[in-house]
Amino acid sequence: MQDTASAQPVAKYRKDYTAPSHTISTLDLLFKLHNTDTLVTATSQVTSNNGATELALVGEQLSLTEVLVDGKPWADYVSTDESLTISNLPATFELTITTQINPSANTALEGLYLSDGAFCTQCEAEGFRRITYFLDRPDVLAKYTTTIEADKAEFPFLLSNGNKLAQGDLENGRHWVKWEDPHPKPSYLFALVAGDFDQLTDTFTTCSGREVALEIFVDKGNVDRAHHAMLSLKNSMKWDEERFGLEYDLDIYMIVAVDFFNMGAMENKGLNVFNSKFVLADQSTATDKDYLGIEAVIGHEYFHNWTGNRVTCRDWFQLSLKEGLTVFRDQEFSSDLGSRAVNRINHVRIIRGPQFAEDASPMSHPIRPEKVIEMNNFYTLTVYEKGSEVIRMIHTLLGEQAFQAGIKLYFERHDGTAATCDDFVAAMQDASGVDLTQFKLWYSQSGTPTVTVVDSYDAQNKTYTLDISQRTEPTATQQEKHALHIPFDVELYRNDGSVITPIIEGKEHSTLLQLTQDSQRFVFEQVDEAPTPSLLREFTAPVKLEYSYTEQQLVLLMKCATNEVSRWDAGQTLMSLYIKEAVSNGTDITLSDDVLNSYKALLTDTTLDSAFVAEALTLPPHSEVSGWFDVIDVDGISKALTDLKLTLAKGLEAELVNAYQSFTSESYDISHPSIAKRSLRNICLSYLSCLPQHQDLAKALFDGSDNMTDTMGAMSAANQCDLACREALMTAYSERWAHDGLVMDKWFMLQGIKPSADALEGVKAAMEHSAFSMQNPNRVRNLIGAFFANPYGFHAIDGSGYRFAGEMLAQLNSTNPQVASRLIDPMLKFARYDETRKSLMRKELEILRDTPDLAKDLFEKVEAALK
Ligand code: TRP
Ligand code: ZN
Repeated sequence: MQDTASAQPVAKYRKDYTAPSHTISTLDLLFKLHNTDTLVTATSQVTSNNGATELALVGEQLSLTEVLVDGKPWADYVSTDESLTISNLPATFELTITTQINPSANTALEGLYLSDGAFCTQCEAEGFRRITYFLDRPDVLAKYTTTIEADKAEFPFLLSNGNKLAQGDLENGRHWVKWEDPHPKPSYLFALVAGDFDQLTDTFTTCSGREVALEIFVDKGNVDRAHHAMLSLKNSMKWDEERFGLEYDLDIYMIVAVDFFNMGAMENKGLNVFNSKFVLADQSTATDKDYLGIEAVIGHEYFHNWTGNRVTCRDWFQLSLKEGLTVFRDQEFSSDLGSRAVNRINHVRIIRGPQFAEDASPMSHPIRPEKVIEMNNFYTLTVYEKGSEVIRMIHTLLGEQAFQAGIKLYFERHDGTAATCDDFVAAMQDASGVDLTQFKLWYSQSGTPTVTVVDSYDAQNKTYTLDISQRTEPTATQQEKHALHIPFDVELYRNDGSVITPIIEGKEHSTLLQLTQDSQRFVFEQVDEAPTPSLLREFTAPVKLEYSYTEQQLVLLMKCATNEVSRWDAGQTLMSLYIKEAVSNGTDITLSDDVLNSYKALLTDTTLDSAFVAEALTLPPHSEVSGWFDVIDVDGISKALTDLKLTLAKGLEAELVNAYQSFTSESYDISHPSIAKRSLRNICLSYLSCLPQHQDLAKALFDGSDNMTDTMGAMSAANQCDLACREALMTAYSERWAHDGLVMDKWFMLQGIKPSADALEGVKAAMEHSAFSMQNPNRVRNLIGAFFANPYGFHAIDGSGYRFAGEMLAQLNSTNPQVASRLIDPMLKFARYDETRKSLMRKELEILRDTPDLAKDLFEKVEAALK
């Protein structure tokens, strides 16, 4: 029987959770792979949970062939475009469902699809329902076996989760392989890959002495670019044993790199599928940042094996349970292996820039959302990055030892089950004895708190008082806000740069203050002079800080603060004073000698980590600065940033030249000291290229470069300053790399961000490049997505950028809504701009709203924005 599907998308609410009606203990899958008509037979052992006789399964874009119960045809069912409801069922039964699907028509890249001729799957969050009708929810855990049949010549590798059980040949040149995954898992962790690949293999011996086979599958000819991924995998396995005491639990770990992928990578049990961007790297094609990205993402997916797979999520509202925790773990991994300060700085930038912007947008949500229309819309900076900050705050409050005790208890209680964020916090609280009752508000309250600090010094009594208050503005879907438990780290400095021991109520106090009320007073005693406070050290909480720093205080902290993150932060705050003033008054920037001298000191101090110096010299991006104002002055911010850069370049010219030239080119390696040197040299180049007398440096670097970091450093400088050589460098690059889309992505990105009024023309021309494809998410993100952040092109006052955006989004809405929905975010913030831009952007959103067949993904965001 056929019904028609409902039209208007419906929301789901966290409060409506109910346990599944049935338990599915095993699922045996048989795939007969064919490009346009793949046959899927799914056989499951099902038990009713509380006498239910009706089983409602979900499915999308499936054509149903057959339903059997206990091996016999079953007629008691109703199927719609999105469901299969079977009735009059016994308490326990075997269910067999056969469906037919068309992988070659799957441009959304969810479910089973073809990536450059290879079959692959993406099931998180709700893609499994595009493979078969199922209880496609994360709290239904089953043991899977998977049999794959396909043409042997075209698809020599047939992969799925777990261990290979058996294989054999069939007629007509076909073959089959059977896999078994011994660990019960939710459907979102299922994976299948079939294709022809080159393979990099290695082994890892675990702490208990088991040997694990490691296999990385890449497109033919790319195996030499997989070594860094393999090294990162082995480092991840070792690190998780040493820092978290967690050992791998299967005999094989496979990673497949594919070119067509909506996100970064996916942690399917024993068979990760990766965007090739996070696997492939060599000296000539990948930047240092790409290498570090590979290490982080390989780590992230590997760490999910415990935090995500062994303990999974009860429902999708709990996504941050696995993602926040796993991001925290990958950040710690990168910090333990590389520079902790630089890692921290980069994550603070993400929180203060795009995450704060998300909090202030119509899609603002808590790290554990309450209401969801399309789950794909909630793989956000808030769930991931702010979620990780929430875990980090727990770590700060408990300390490493108690935190690890909490992790241990969490696994003792919940291994092999689907858990909630509350379960996690309970384990942390019970193992440590730290009361986290108020802290839990971080899971349910959305928006960015502002912490305001007012200080006073009493010379007579030698006391220094901090009056600290907190306030969270109402957000789109949450009016009422409460005081949060905020760990707030503070250090006090004398004018000579020495640290004042914190004494509160006669006793030495830790640097960590606990904020729990709307406003609180902290009185420091025995303070012998009016101090400079270093506030929110290490960014101990994801909050905005308000305190009226003087230039002198910031200069002191830049020089003397005991940790690099605080020194960097002081420099950023100092820059923000100048930027804010220039934007508000439209004035030119003049820097005092004190400020210039403190930057000079950074550039000439050879004891500092060059990577840190490079971060300290990096200006906050346009997007972050935009967040500092109620109404965004697009052009004023661009002007201020350009002006500040030029002013610094002029003021620091001698030191920049010196730092640039002191770089001795040894043979290339990706050790941290080498990465640090290159990053300092490239930031110097970006400044020097603003000055007419140094405009040939970029071309010289490009011509002499033997690695992608320097090549991109040169091209970025040429692009940013529109140097005379820009065109020649871009052409040379495109001639060399036109055959490789992944490498061309860097070229597309530069076209997208070109800071000039003709950026849109450049983007349109680049769309005609042979390496570009609207079907490939990486190409779309690098060219079109980059353009959406271009203050000159996207925000062109004639509306041409917005019109182009509207057209692109309409097109992607029908081919790949998930990608469309990630691109649309800059448009949602239309209300923050001047009247002209506001109404132009709004018009494009209204056109989208009225688009026939608007996907749920865009529907949810457009509705929220126009409300
Ligand atoms: N769980 C993946 C991660 O490690 C995220 C992910 C990959 C994803 N592909 C996806 C989420 C597709 C939604 C849709 O973070
Ligand atoms: Zn993840």
